Amino acid sequence: MRPRLSLFSASVLTVVLAYLFIQVVIPYASMWIADRPSPVTVPAALTVIYMLLVFIGLYIYITISEENVREFLQPILEFLRGGETGVRAGLRLGLLALVPLLVGWITYDRLAPKVQSLTGIRIQHPTIPGQYEKLINPYRNPTDDLVKQFQQQEGLDGIGLEEARKRLVGTALAEGRALYQKNCRVCHGSKADGSGPMAVGFRLRPANFRDPGTIATVVEAYAFWRISEGGRGLPNESSPWDSAMPRWKEELTEAEIWKIILAEYELADVEPRKPEKLE
Ligand code: HEC
Repeated sequence: MRPRLSLFSASVLTVVLAYLFIQVVIPYASMWIADRPSPVTVPAALTVIYMLLVFIGLYIYITISEENVREFLQPILEFLRGGETGVRAGLRLGLLALVPLLVGWITYDRLAPKVQSLTGIRIQHPTIPGQYEKLINPYRNPTDDLVKQFQQQEGLDGIGLEEARKRLVGTALAEGRALYQKNCRVCHGSKADGSGPMAVGFRLRPANFRDPGTIATVVEAYAFWRISEGGRGLPNESSPWDSAMPRWKEELTEAEIWKIILAEYELADVEPRKPEKLE
């Protein structure tokens, strides 16, 4: 007669194979079918459900007849009853000692008070990276060159330089206001008070620009950095709680960001900090 796998070994093998199928075969097959660059892992919750189904199936199969139950239990009982000496006896002793130790350890781990470090303090305004430090907002006090360029573009040769400067700032502000309402309002609010419709969804609330502790304490270059790089551009000291502030340099041009900054300060009714002259 062909040597048959015992019911116990077959059951263990089934569980192992099912697990490997879920963890290895499905991810790689999905990668291949969906043409993805990496394996598509099965979500943990789904793995639990699949494995549960395997266990239920096995349970039904084993308990369907008395014989099966006996066959399944036999190696377990043999192992536990023992009698022999040598490797199996040592293994049994080890297992019987391990179970209560494991239970004890889990219980201890759950109940023992833990030493917890204090909740980290989040640094709201870390140091600005060097490449942003020296930038100034071209639309706050536009240079003569920029004004002349604007005059040419708009065909405003007839008016004086000062008048043209005023119009340039006015246009930039109007554009900035529209861009702010379009892109920033959902989080920072239509009045720049940090209470946009999406704001409640974040543990780290969007900055309230009317609060004197936010944009009023920084120079415009700082706001430019934060808007360009977003939460992802923040260094580690600005955790815990990751910032949901998007990275706008992928969506907006530099000019648009400067215009938004102009409008943002106006809307919040605060002044940016003046850059210090070091020389
Ligand atoms: C998805 C929500 C969201 C949107 C949209 C968003 N922000 Fe933010 N923003 C945040 C959050 C949250 C913070 C606070 C955490 C931080 O400093 O990164 C923040 C912080 C900032 C800060 C830093 C303030 C300070 O004092 O450090 C600036 C400046 C800012 N946002 C400007 C903008 C501008 C301008 C726009 C539109 C172009 C915008 N944000 C759009 C969520 C958002």
